[in-house]
Amino acid sequence: MKHLIDPTDLSVDEIEGILNLALDIIKDKSKYSEACKGKKLATLFFEPSTRTRLSFEAAMMELGGNVLGFSSADSSSATKGESVGDTIRVVGCYADIIAMRHPKEGAPMLGSMVSPVPIINAGDGGHNHPTQTLTDLLTIKREKGDLNNFTIGLCGDLKFGRTVHSLIKALSRYEGIKFILISPKELKVPDYIITEVFEKNNIDYKEVTTMEEVMPELDIIYMTRVQKERFFNEADYVRLKDTYILDKSKLKNAKETLSIMHPLPRVNEISTEIDDDPRAAYFRQALNGKYVRMALMLTLLGVNV
Ligand code: NCD
Repeated sequence: MKHLIDPTDLSVDEIEGILNLALDIIKDKSKYSEACKGKKLATLFFEPSTRTRLSFEAAMMELGGNVLGFSSADSSSATKGESVGDTIRVVGCYADIIAMRHPKEGAPMLGSMVSPVPIINAGDGGHNHPTQTLTDLLTIKREKGDLNNFTIGLCGDLKFGRTVHSLIKALSRYEGIKFILISPKELKVPDYIITEVFEKNNIDYKEVTTMEEVMPELDIIYMTRVQKERFFNEADYVRLKDTYILDKSKLKNAKETLSIMHPLPRVNEISTEIDDDPRAAYFRQALNGKYVRMALMLTLLGVNV
């Protein structure tokens, strides 16, 4: 049985298989409409979510399966003091696959050690978010045609942003990618990403503090929200939250072929005046999230269509 806890739990070939399956689902949705008939997905969200939870649920429904679960820790037995391990053992008796989000780093990994069914990490604290990464990879493949040979700028909260950590890890296995890390010094990527991912694999990266200085080089800009809920101190959040706002003026020197991505939810970091620009890929990205989760669940459940 396979779980998805860290983006590198899947090999590059397995990811290729999931992305190709997602592309086939997009081409012929009706072929998959009963693929998970009789199967149940449990979504256990100990932390809020819109896209991730609802796209998982929509994905299972479009595969003909059913969903159950909870959308906040308050409405689960966590409030009575139940451990994550016990919750997973119990839900594993009711569901065929579990998608779980938790504010504590490592909680889904813990769950996977006792789970009788596949566990998907739907975000653990500031650590990882592998299904957002699959969403991002499918988006890059569809927007750019290739997962190799481009320059990507990751901008905003690179310290607490789990989508950034997971995406960097996943992309580090492709060729010819240059990473430009755009953040204030307080929100730089954690040291382990620099040493364990970039330096260990001899990957081209640089750290800068403004998007203007690198905009002409970028093939992709991946904007992120400053992760309010992970700050210890409100004043720091208020000081840093609007460091980067992508608007029309900042795109003046950008490539015509730039892709603008964002895992969403957006707060202020992308002006709505950009939404109609053909380079704005973030709502297409959100839709890709549903298809790639369909492909992932089919794969983990071992369903062949
Ligand atoms: C992200 C997350 O939860 O980490 N959202 C998402 O799943 N699309 C990004 C964020 O909350 O900023």
